[in-house]
Amino acid sequence: MEKETWTQVDRYMEGQLLGPDPVLEAALRDSDAAGLPSIHVSPSQGKLLQLLAQGMNARRILEIGTLAGYSTICLARALPPEGRLISLEYEQRHAAVARANIARAGLARIAEVRVGPALEQLPRLRAEGQDPFDLIFIDADKQGYPDYFAWALRLARRGTLIIADNVVRNGEVINANSSNAGVPGVRRFIELVASEPRVSATVVQTVGSKGYDGFLIARVNADV
Ligand code: SAH
Ligand code: DHB
Ligand code: MG
Repeated sequence: MEKETWTQVDRYMEGQLLGPDPVLEAALRDSDAAGLPSIHVSPSQGKLLQLLAQGMNARRILEIGTLAGYSTICLARALPPEGRLISLEYEQRHAAVARANIARAGLARIAEVRVGPALEQLPRLRAEGQDPFDLIFIDADKQGYPDYFAWALRLARRGTLIIADNVVRNGEVINANSSNAGVPGVRRFIELVASEPRVSATVVQTVGSKGYDGFLIARVNADV
């Protein structure tokens, strides 16, 4: 069974459980039109992010890696009107598409995109004295994951969920000599999470229209 089947099952489940979503469809259309890579979470994965955020009553969300704002919209939909989402994006060009997509989704008052390398933006959040985030979604460059996790802990509270995308990479994660550029960073990230006594974590492998990959989900169990 291969990607074609996984994709058909995704389409079936999306038809049954998600239904048409003109706002997300338009976001993808404009992302493609602007030449952005098609590496957003799948519709079903976006719904999972929304449900996890809703399930924990999230009020404040931090995202690292915006692209065209697809996952941003999914997460921001989980927030109440007074909620807040900050998404960090390196590329000005991506941020511009994302801001337009977020505005069309009616989420401009809730979700903000900040442009620059995440490792410059994360210390700024702390210096601003931002309240802790309830959910932190890590989905930028994979080499950065270990640093993003360390910053996520500093910006978290007891009970925060830290979710990271793309931690399986077609199974390459178990290959210590992988030629896939992101794999060493993901492996160091997994090892860092494993050695961090303040979190409890698991990885869920996923198949679907995005191929074979996975999410890491960690809960902060201590005061940080
Ligand atoms: N979360 C998005 C997909 C993000 S793709 C979704 O599912 O819809 C990864 C994004 O991270 C890209 O837009 C890329 O430009 C951005 N990125 C890469 N390196 C970064 C860095 N150092 N800081 C912030 N963003 C970065
Ligand atoms: C890539 C990045 C992602 O965040 C993703 O979900 C899929 C692929 C990539 O850089 O190839
Ligand atoms: Mg991703």
